[in-house]
Amino acid sequence: MDPLSWRENKLFLLDQRLLPGRVELVECRDWRSVADCIKNMVVRGAPAIGASAAYGMALAAFELAEEKETEFMTRLQMAASGLTATRPTAVNLAWAVERMMNVAKTQAGLNPHEIASVLESEANRLAAEDVAVNRRIGDFGAALVADGATILTHCNAGALATVGYGTALGVVRSAVSQGKRVTVFADETRPYLQGSRLTAWELSRDNIPVTLIADNMAGFLMQQKKIDLVLVGADRIAANGDAANKIGTYSVAVLASYHGVPFYVAAPFSTFDLSLEGGDRIPIEERCGQEITHFQGIRVAPEGVGCYNPSFDVTPAGLITAIITEDGIIASPDKEKIESLFGGRRHGRHQD
Ligand code: MRU
Repeated sequence: MDPLSWRENKLFLLDQRLLPGRVELVECRDWRSVADCIKNMVVRGAPAIGASAAYGMALAAFELAEEKETEFMTRLQMAASGLTATRPTAVNLAWAVERMMNVAKTQAGLNPHEIASVLESEANRLAAEDVAVNRRIGDFGAALVADGATILTHCNAGALATVGYGTALGVVRSAVSQGKRVTVFADETRPYLQGSRLTAWELSRDNIPVTLIADNMAGFLMQQKKIDLVLVGADRIAANGDAANKIGTYSVAVLASYHGVPFYVAAPFSTFDLSLEGGDRIPIEERCGQEITHFQGIRVAPEGVGCYNPSFDVTPAGLITAIITEDGIIASPDKEKIESLFGGRRHGRHQD
């Protein structure tokens, strides 16, 4: 179920556009094909596109390795900008590219060939860290899941959306591995169907009980007391705890608040963007209207109808019961608590 793997200087991406029907890999030999794959949703999910872009940077460095040093750095920066521009909302993408660029900039004395190898190692490190971080998120989050719980999730914040294990679904996996019996309700997640195509596929393959529902059924299930908690991922979390995630997440959070159901966001530190005071500053990707007017290539709306397709929304911190990170749980998140957790990391009180 690996969404990405690096072998012999090539990045292989599981083509998530074809799931669950077909399991096929796309081979990327240069940074431009990685950028195309991110843009076209071959790979998706905030941490997964970040890690893919990191490998894209390594590929760019190998492609440019014959250049003189200044030209190498200038063109590496162009690749960095090209990769970052592919999708605007998930900050993990810019975070990963920036991390790679900073490593390249601090290799004084090395030639471009050597820098390319350093970047390859850095991408491998970033990818391995992602899985380790998700396991830590999972272990912290599992404490919030009671034996027998029914969990609602939206979109896919699983192994497919990360390098492995998942954030929200990592919490589910950790709870299951602790012997807890859980049932997951997966919102289908219109219009791109990450819930039905990816979450349902991923959980079924792991034999974790999953029931698919259409997005508009979540309120009814909560009213019927069939949901004990909501667990979602995030694409960008502002300094005050407002969290952007797949479109529809905000509606689920409002419903959860109304029905007194705890609403948890599971996300690594690479998803926080402390440069933004609040969620209203988070750029929201708008995607092609055809995702709504068509279903698997078949038109389901009249010709010429206007369409608006924002791909993410922002859940205000006030609707979030807690954010589950790799360093612990931030209950009722706000600016002070987030700052203090980050401050602790800067002063080495937390593991990296
Ligand atoms: O458009 P996508 O499929 O890339 O959107 C993905 C999501 O919104 C996920 O919930 C989010 O990236 C968290 S993934 C751990």
